[in-house]
Amino acid sequence: MNFILTTERLHLQPCGAEDLMRLHRLWTNQHIRYFLFDERIISEDEARSFIQASLDSFNRHNYGLWLVYCQNQCIGFAGFLDAEEAPNLIYGIHPDCWGQGYATEAARAVLTYGLETLSLPRVNADVDEPNTASVRVLQKLGMKQVGHATVNHHPLLYFTT
Ligand SMILES: CC(C)(COP(=O)(O)OP(=O)(O)OC[C@H]1O[C@@H](n2cnc3c(N)ncnc32)[C@H](O)[C@@H]1OP(=O)(O)O)[C@@H](O)C(=O)NCCC(=O)NCCS
Repeated sequence: MNFILTTERLHLQPCGAEDLMRLHRLWTNQHIRYFLFDERIISEDEARSFIQASLDSFNRHNYGLWLVYCQNQCIGFAGFLDAEEAPNLIYGIHPDCWGQGYATEAARAVLTYGLETLSLPRVNADVDEPNTASVRVLQKLGMKQVGHATVNHHPLLYFTT
């Protein structure tokens, strides 16, 4: 199966072992890690295990994490994390490229692939309440807020399709 996704401006390609350093740099960027990893600087080994989990997930479910390219430059990632109830949508764009609609465009491509090509019955997303840009992305995708909770002192909002 061909997992490459394209949009008007973007090209999305499943991440592989060769993307370790690129993804580790992105995931440890201070503006990306702030909400994604609660500011924690993840190790290269952790990044490697996320990539392996994505490879396994593509094998089992035909979804995982994609790298997002704009004019041959890697600007971010988007995809689904395997979860019990339904796959969880995640995304991140390099801060140099924020505010140009790239997260929405990439996440929409992934979501459409999941719902239409794979016929997933549902996709979920959870987001830190203060992460207003991410909340806005989910709203622009048409996802609905279905709950909120405080987890480890962090207010979280739950969205679903
Ligand atoms: C969240 C994130 C992916 C958004 O990327 P982006 O490419 O800038 O997103 P878009 O341009 O598609 O849309 C952002 C929207 O949020 C709005 N926005 C941005 N900052 C905002 C703020 N501080 N307050 C309110 N709205 C804000 C933008 O105006 C835009 O909405 P609009 O189109 O209605 O104007 C990016 O900030 C990021 O990578 N953050 C770190 C990783 C992360 O938090 N990922 C989400 C959790 S999985």
